[in-house]
Amino acid sequence: MRKSVIVGNWKMNKTPTEASELLDQISKLDLDREVEAGVCTPAIDLLLAKDKLSETNVNFGAQNMYFEESGAFTGEISPTMLQDIGASYVILGHSERREYFHEDDELINKKVLSALDHDLTPILCCGETLEEREAEKHEEKVRGQIEADLEGISNEDIEKVIIAYEPIWAIGTGKTASSDDADSMCGYIRSIIADKFGEEYAQKVRIQYGGSVKPNNVVELMGKENIDGALVGGASLKAEDFESLVNYNK
Ligand code: PGA
Repeated sequence: MRKSVIVGNWKMNKTPTEASELLDQISKLDLDREVEAGVCTPAIDLLLAKDKLSETNVNFGAQNMYFEESGAFTGEISPTMLQDIGASYVILGHSERREYFHEDDELINKKVLSALDHDLTPILCCGETLEEREAEKHEEKVRGQIEADLEGISNEDIEKVIIAYEPIWAIGTGKTASSDDADSMCGYIRSIIADKFGEEYAQKVRIQYGGSVKPNNVVELMGKENIDGALVGGASLKAEDFESLVNYNK
């Protein structure tokens, strides 16, 4: 059985003062322990997350990192730094990083390998644009991303990776993919993993859906066979919504 995993992606929101308040609220929530929960905060809020969530079962992680351990890479944070503070996750290849910061699959692949080398769980994002969906190129696009981003990963490591299918047209737009479309793409991603690593490993990999997940659609999405979790932007910024998302089973 794959354990459900609901992770908040705060993006570039919450100053340390605001983060401190939200993390205090999150630390007091009564969350379903059957569900793995986490928040990926801005880098500047990570130490607060470590401190405020230490007595809870909510994990924390980063939204990006460089693949080198240290050195002359002004402005970057490293896997060693994230490992040192006990981060669980690092989101890699988010569409906003691919689009605005020109990250390509070769770079993302290096980051995925480096995260695994440092005991961090990569949350690897993939997904198509609206034009690609309308041209029925969504499967091709996602296959290309997954194959390139997971190049060189061992069978033992693939089961530690979380994949987030996030159709770009659904991110922050209020337009969710239908639960059937989301399920079918998550199933398709599982078949790509099976082709590359074998069915046994594909059955272990957790695949999240992301893109306008809210308390009012999480139950339907999580009811789907191939959707094992959600990567949630906007709705993760309010403690009560985060609680409803993690407690979708209650
Ligand atoms: P959203 O963002 O929930 O605000 O659509 C999801 C994401 O980009 O991870």
